[in-house]
Amino acid sequence: MKAILVSEPGDASKLVLGETETPTPSESQLLVKVHSFALNRMDVVQRQGSYPAPFGASQILGVEFAGTVSKIGGNADGWKEGERVFGLVYGGAYAEYVVIDKQMAMRIPDHISYQTAASLPEVWFTAYQALFLNCNLEEGENVLIHAGASGVGSVAIQIAKYIGKAKNIIVTVGTEDKKTFCKDLGATHAINYKTEDWPKEVEKITEGKGVNVIVDFVGATHWNGNLASLSLDGRMVMLAFLSGAVIKESNLALILRKRLTIRGSSLRSRELPYLRKLKNQLETQAFGPIFDNSLPLRSHIDKQFSWKDIQEAHRYLESNQSMGKIVINID
Ligand SMILES: NC(=O)c1ccc[n+]([C@@H]2O[C@H](COP(=O)([O-])OP(=O)(O)OC[C@H]3O[C@@H](n4cnc5c(N)ncnc54)[C@H](OP(=O)(O)O)[C@@H]3O)[C@@H](O)[C@H]2O)c1
Repeated sequence: MKAILVSEPGDASKLVLGETETPTPSESQLLVKVHSFALNRMDVVQRQGSYPAPFGASQILGVEFAGTVSKIGGNADGWKEGERVFGLVYGGAYAEYVVIDKQMAMRIPDHISYQTAASLPEVWFTAYQALFLNCNLEEGENVLIHAGASGVGSVAIQIAKYIGKAKNIIVTVGTEDKKTFCKDLGATHAINYKTEDWPKEVEKITEGKGVNVIVDFVGATHWNGNLASLSLDGRMVMLAFLSGAVIKESNLALILRKRLTIRGSSLRSRELPYLRKLKNQLETQAFGPIFDNSLPLRSHIDKQFSWKDIQEAHRYLESNQSMGKIVINID
């Protein structure tokens, strides 16, 4: 089969359309012919050689896709060849064919495009897990989401608003356009971290109380502001370190004084039984309402590319211009 391969660790020019073995589905898996897949920031880090795929996973990039069932491993288990499916995998989505655990595969309703379906899994799983399972968000609480216009951030805003029923949903972003984008999705306040003193703004918005929950991807540059912005009994989940992971100076006493809970989370390192349960929750609480329009939840696709232009697509992602998701079509 054809697949996007990494010729050697490095920049986007190392992504090449090449030939590799088609995967064989095990008894618990489906083989899917991929129509579209979506990009994630982790793909860039994996391409650079700093984020190896989990043990036993495909070395091919890509954790989310939409396509049609091409072959069923073992018993049918309710599946039919030709059915439209989408899902989250540990790797292998930048390819003509990918295998997925039968219990992780989800059906795509007829009125939903392959592109929309492919854009959903990684960021909705991550944001839902961050807000509810990692930070126990409760109705009426205040939330701060960094990189608000990122794939994960743009979804965290909507989950906090329409599922979590948070009070203030504050985001930080790097451009004025991104402020408007986040407010359209449901953020109550958007702060440009490049031009505004965001911890001061958070203090003003929350009338000195601080935020109950922070979803952080930025790390070092935002650490001290995060400690200052958390409320008593505040919770923060750290999902990435886009600005680095080393802090020169910090007043750790705030963690004790405010009784803070700070934790890390990595979706890709989770075992299948955990992911299957999370998938069931997401289908009921998020994907169902997206498909039947019962909640104002949506996926925002910023741009689509042909997989022949994968280098350009990665460069665009790395330029930090995108808002929401970038989807790639196999043609
Ligand atoms: N731990 C997990 O389980 C997990 C799962 C999924 C994703 N992630 C991580 O979550 C982050 C978001 O992923 P994504 O795919 O949604 O990202 P994305 O759509 O590529 O967006 C990333 C955004 O982060 C902002 N950013 C980049 N460098 C920054 C810096 N130094 N300081 C502040 N903001 C910066 C940029 O927006 P601005 O213009 O606003 O700066 C950029 O557009 C990534 O780091 C990804 O690796 C973690």
